[in-house]
Amino acid sequence: MFGPLPRTVRLLDAGAGAGSLTAAFVSRCCEKGDGVRAIEATLYELDGEILDALAETMRECEHRCADAGIRFTFAIHSADFIQEMSLRLAGDLFGTPQPHSFDAAIANPPYRKISTDSAERRALRLIGVETSNLYTGFIAIIQRLLVPGGQLVGITPRSFCNGPYFRPFREDFLSQLELRRLHVFESRQAAFRDDSVLQENVIFHAVKGRNQPNELTISSSSGEHGDDITATVFPFADIVHPRDPEKFIHIPSTASHAKAKETMDGLRSSLASLGITVSTGRVVDFRLKNALRKEPESGTVPLLYPCHFNGGTVHWPKLEARKPNAILDNDETRPWLVPSGVYLLTKRFTSKEEHRRLVACLFDPDQVKTKWVGFENHLNYFHTCGHGLERTLAVGLYAFLNSTVVDQYFRRFSGHTQVNATDLRTLTYPDRDTLQAMGRDMKSLDVSQDEIDQTVTKHLHARR
Ligand SMILES: C[S@@+](CC[C@H](N)C(=O)[O-])C[C@H]1O[C@@H](n2cnc3c(N)ncnc32)[C@H](O)[C@@H]1O
Repeated sequence: MFGPLPRTVRLLDAGAGAGSLTAAFVSRCCEKGDGVRAIEATLYELDGEILDALAETMRECEHRCADAGIRFTFAIHSADFIQEMSLRLAGDLFGTPQPHSFDAAIANPPYRKISTDSAERRALRLIGVETSNLYTGFIAIIQRLLVPGGQLVGITPRSFCNGPYFRPFREDFLSQLELRRLHVFESRQAAFRDDSVLQENVIFHAVKGRNQPNELTISSSSGEHGDDITATVFPFADIVHPRDPEKFIHIPSTASHAKAKETMDGLRSSLASLGITVSTGRVVDFRLKNALRKEPESGTVPLLYPCHFNGGTVHWPKLEARKPNAILDNDETRPWLVPSGVYLLTKRFTSKEEHRRLVACLFDPDQVKTKWVGFENHLNYFHTCGHGLERTLAVGLYAFLNSTVVDQYFRRFSGHTQVNATDLRTLTYPDRDTLQAMGRDMKSLDVSQDEIDQTVTKHLHARR
């Protein structure tokens, strides 16, 4: 993915492992012979056990380069990249020298959540970076170490593209790096099957600078060896919408995704314009442990979890489930409950076996009689100012959110199985009349995917 390189390339490989990425870079320079005369590689690796293999790979690179007439030198740093570079970058404060600048960086950084008080987070904070995963921490530092025009090719999970927690990272990334190319692995298993990593991954090529390109090539493949790669050029504004405050990086891929996007782009209503709000379930169960009850009893109200979803409606109580079915209704718990009414619920987390990312279900007060109800934190719920929704509108919303078109649209930019309230808030929706017409057409909620799709498609077309 690298573009033209200078005659002497200062290359950074952070989290180098056995050095395969540097070896690939060297190999390309040797084969292409496109003017690179010297490569100065800097490698960071924390794992002492892999350093011999890394040194061995670097010696092979030396030989390979010697044969191709390229001067190759390398320096292996057996150090923590985050700690060392954060300190150096914050050098003005500490009087330590500024780090080197690099013309190119290649990275497959480690992936791990880093908690707010971890050593990594504290180090990153020294340079003004606040991020919750090691890989985004690595990329944020690498970006700072590039010269203007310096290039970065990285392979990472795609969670940074739309996770709400990655918003500051996206802002930092997109304000300092020009995104030139993205490759997405469509299958969650293929790329890292051996490590049982269930992440969808992307490879990106970015250049240090402040002018995003007009167009961007997005390619995709399954990740299986030898599989076809399909590539399409998209306007950059389709990938990162110019006025999107979340700076989501939308990744379109197949034709059906493009079609779904076209349909969704034709919708003009927002949740706010429909007078509807979506919130995350307010009952955080471990904080209210003492108030939870396995079975309903006097003084309790229903507590709903994703396990209560059943064919479009809520099945409650579910006594065989491991989750509690009820919560005490008292002064302490009342702020976390909502008054009974028609609510639309969606799961925040779906398992990869589920055929849709977005799974919606209706809470119907005619089926579960109660004055108050608790929605647990693994759910999102749609409401009107803290109260229930009008029934046909809720049923229309049920059909729309469970439709294939929304699912495909959603998959374009969501690489993981989590559906946050922010994601639902930023979707476009049909207008109220269309949603109500869909609602009236749904004679039952427990219908096949085909029937849902037919209803939704019919009304989306009718409104054109
Ligand atoms: C996902 S592996 C990639 C290895 C290699 N680049 C590759 O693609 O085959 C990430 C590597 O980063 C190393 N690593 C983890 N934390 C590190 C840190 N704080 N500083 C330097 N290296 C680190 C790990 O030991 C591991 O070898």
